[in-house]
Amino acid sequence: MLSRSHTPLLSHAYTNIPSPTNRFKYRPPCIVFVSRSNGEGLERRIIQKKREQERLAACGDSSELPFLEKIFNILDRAITEFLDPPLHFSVDPAKILSGNGAPVDELIPTKCEIVHGTIPSCLSGVYIRNGPNPQFAPKGPYHFLDGDGMVHSIKISHGRATFCSRYVKTNKYLFEKQVRPHVVPNVIGGMRGLGSFIARATLFGARVLFSGYNIGKGIGVANTNLAFLGGKLYALCESDIPYAIKIKDDGDVITLGHHDFNGNLSMNMTAHPKIDPVTKEAFAFRYWATRPYLTYFRFDKDGNKQPDVPIYSMKQPSLTHDLAITQKYAIICDIQVRACPMNLIRGEPLVGVDQTKIMSSKNLEFPVINPAYIGKKNKYIYAAIADQTQSGLRMMRASGVVKLDITASSEEGEDQHECTMASRMYENNCFGGEPFFIAREAENPNSEEDDGYVVSYVHHESSCESRFLVMDARSPTLEVVAVVKLPQRVPYGLHGIFIRENDLYQM
Ligand SMILES: [Fe+2]
Repeated sequence: MLSRSHTPLLSHAYTNIPSPTNRFKYRPPCIVFVSRSNGEGLERRIIQKKREQERLAACGDSSELPFLEKIFNILDRAITEFLDPPLHFSVDPAKILSGNGAPVDELIPTKCEIVHGTIPSCLSGVYIRNGPNPQFAPKGPYHFLDGDGMVHSIKISHGRATFCSRYVKTNKYLFEKQVRPHVVPNVIGGMRGLGSFIARATLFGARVLFSGYNIGKGIGVANTNLAFLGGKLYALCESDIPYAIKIKDDGDVITLGHHDFNGNLSMNMTAHPKIDPVTKEAFAFRYWATRPYLTYFRFDKDGNKQPDVPIYSMKQPSLTHDLAITQKYAIICDIQVRACPMNLIRGEPLVGVDQTKIMSSKNLEFPVINPAYIGKKNKYIYAAIADQTQSGLRMMRASGVVKLDITASSEEGEDQHECTMASRMYENNCFGGEPFFIAREAENPNSEEDDGYVVSYVHHESSCESRFLVMDARSPTLEVVAVVKLPQRVPYGLHGIFIRENDLYQM
């Protein structure tokens, strides 16, 4: 534990890539697109080849690819066919991108129908959630986290709601859309063996040279989280520097661009910076494959990045994902999710779980607290109940939400259920993701910690309808007080944030 002005700390992990146990014969992914607009459901199946042809046509290409690109595509297939280890379900695009894992198209700001209750006035602002949504059907192994970032926002004003879905216009997204698809390989899904790793890295280098891709502008997908830092909103992914985005008056989301904080952030940073709700300072870090494996830094209240502080006590690379702060310290945990180069030689994923360092058997995900209690002693945690019923997507979809009172388990050996003081299971075949807590009176210092609402996007897999739920955080059943029917499906994703109306005006 380190003084937060000088040092760091860490995390939860949603990535679990088991070792392959069965050999799957690779097949071109079949993506199921499910869209629902204005109450009319429409399902269509588009195979990889057709979608790529459409995309290429949209890019201005003819059906005839340049000769060199044809060679690259042949090499791509050869790597998948002859060098990749057995295709595990966790990187099988046909499984990852099925059902509500399938990508959706962008949607312009669209009015929503409130189908139950009334949206509380304290929710005036924007709830916006990030997640992977690949622009093109993947070639070869694809991990859930490889997809291009898309944000799904719901802007609430005077009790009315407007929804929109927009890609984060990253360097990768724009180049692949405007010049050439598939230039950047699937970084996580493709790192599953030394031979295929070297081959893909070489092929990436050749594609960069051939296409003119500016690697200096980043290869990140900005698909993990959002942060409101120094009065600006950012889309984050821990493999790149942030992308500044902005929410317009009409609810649309635009990408302002790669943001290096006046040249002071030249490398990647965590997708989970922590903002002190009182001082407005932000605390962050980056992990890396070589020493120093961990580097800590902070931003002042105006978003100015302060100098790096290398942390040499970290003895090996670790996918340090998150951190916590107190009034004096930043706390970063050395977690069991490892990036081990030896795994490539063994034909295993570069990233894996160290099965010796197990922290908990509890199956909860996406924990959040009242943001006003970041850096303070808190009592309540809200978390998603991870779905156990379908192996392909179980890591990313939740069958319900719980409210935990962490003071109830202070005695060693106490049962986990004694921490659960409220819970809600979604209806059959309905799944959500990360919950988010929104205080009822954010400016009232005397508010109770749990005086507010828990919100989340959910998707009904039978009706193919997505909804925005508002739940009373103080209710023992997390009673649903408002339901907004969304004009488009929201795929399962990652982390979100709520920006209050007053902060929107200052962006
Ligand atoms: Fe995360």
